[in-house]
Amino acid sequence: MDGTTSSNLTGDLAGTLEELRSRGLFKRERILTGPQDAVIHTRLADGTIREVVNFCANNYLGLANHPGVIRAASQAMERFGFGYASVRFICGTSELHRELESRMSAFLGTEEAILYAAAFDANGGVFEPLLDERDAIISDALNHASIIDGVRLCKAQRYRYAHADLTDLETQLRAARDAGSRYRLIATDGVFSMDGDIAPLPGIVELARKYDALVMVDDCHATGYLGPTGRGTAEHFGLQGKIDIITTTFGKALGGASGGCVGGRREIVEMLRQRSRPYLFSNTLAPAVAGGTLRALQIVEEEPERCRRPLELARRFRERLSAEGLDLLPGETAIVPVMVYDEVQALEMAERLLERGVYVIGFAFPVVPRGKARIRVQLSAAHTTEQVDRAADAFIAVARDQAL
Ligand SMILES: Cc1ncc(COP(=O)(O)O)c(C=O)c1O
Repeated sequence: MDGTTSSNLTGDLAGTLEELRSRGLFKRERILTGPQDAVIHTRLADGTIREVVNFCANNYLGLANHPGVIRAASQAMERFGFGYASVRFICGTSELHRELESRMSAFLGTEEAILYAAAFDANGGVFEPLLDERDAIISDALNHASIIDGVRLCKAQRYRYAHADLTDLETQLRAARDAGSRYRLIATDGVFSMDGDIAPLPGIVELARKYDALVMVDDCHATGYLGPTGRGTAEHFGLQGKIDIITTTFGKALGGASGGCVGGRREIVEMLRQRSRPYLFSNTLAPAVAGGTLRALQIVEEEPERCRRPLELARRFRERLSAEGLDLLPGETAIVPVMVYDEVQALEMAERLLERGVYVIGFAFPVVPRGKARIRVQLSAAHTTEQVDRAADAFIAVARDQAL
């Protein structure tokens, strides 16, 4: 190995890391000392442990530390062991995996579903086996990084439309059709993770029909709580059964462990089982995760009021902050982006809120565009109304202190 090249690289990296530190943009990982829940415990730099109310987990339904989910996960582990030590097609498929696939496809309103170790892998592996250079993917500009990576791994022609802009989507669809593409696929998040808004799915489906395109929705931030029975963005708009491909995660509302899936037409899912690289060349989902996620799905079906709770709390939180003149991105999901714009001010605001017992994160470039820094607040069925009101009070006080 060439020592000079290696030390040049580490020298360059050290410089970049130092620049991030000096600009206040270096991400530090906070250490929790217990489970993920509405109230969490975090170890501070001086070693003391602080109790704070958590508003930055994707634990929309409060199932991450739910006793029933934990019991189901441990029963699955007792029965199927800790690990399965195989990819699916060799000896990594258990009855639990098949059951979860069939429950997920029924839940999403698709013909079939296939599990992945993460939704990141689902998005990374969904395009390449289905489309090639004769085809076109038309992708929303704010789509999640995993969709962007998945599209990069596929040979299809790439088109990007301005975020949620149906006029631009039509322009791109027309361009893709006029360029002679064989198949066209529109790819969009269902709920956008950083802006908390919902994709204009009725308009997208209509344009897909007009331009003979397929529609793929990444519903990671919607599955479990959006729509009358928590089935996600398609259900929210009364479009269940009309979306060609849905990808989603088990790492957020559905218990928050890990794993994801793709739901779609039988032939699409069968082809993914044959050719999708993150599925073929990566270990199967741990039995405990499959068992716990199955129980989480059952809870969603049995407790529809749990699905409504994060939306009700988000509405309440929004109303309090808006009434005090704080700048929020408009929306109706469990994600409430409080706009700060200045990157350093956003990180500072998160620190001050922590001192008041409210745990949130400031997001800055490259996670959001430059000059659009924000605090993303995520509401959960685990929160009490009182916790949400106290968080709103803290936001209002800190915004006043910082003259925002
Ligand atoms: C929209 C979206 N898609 C995909 C993912 C990846 O999900 P997973 O954590 O299951 O890999 C995320 C997670 O942050 C997400 O927000």
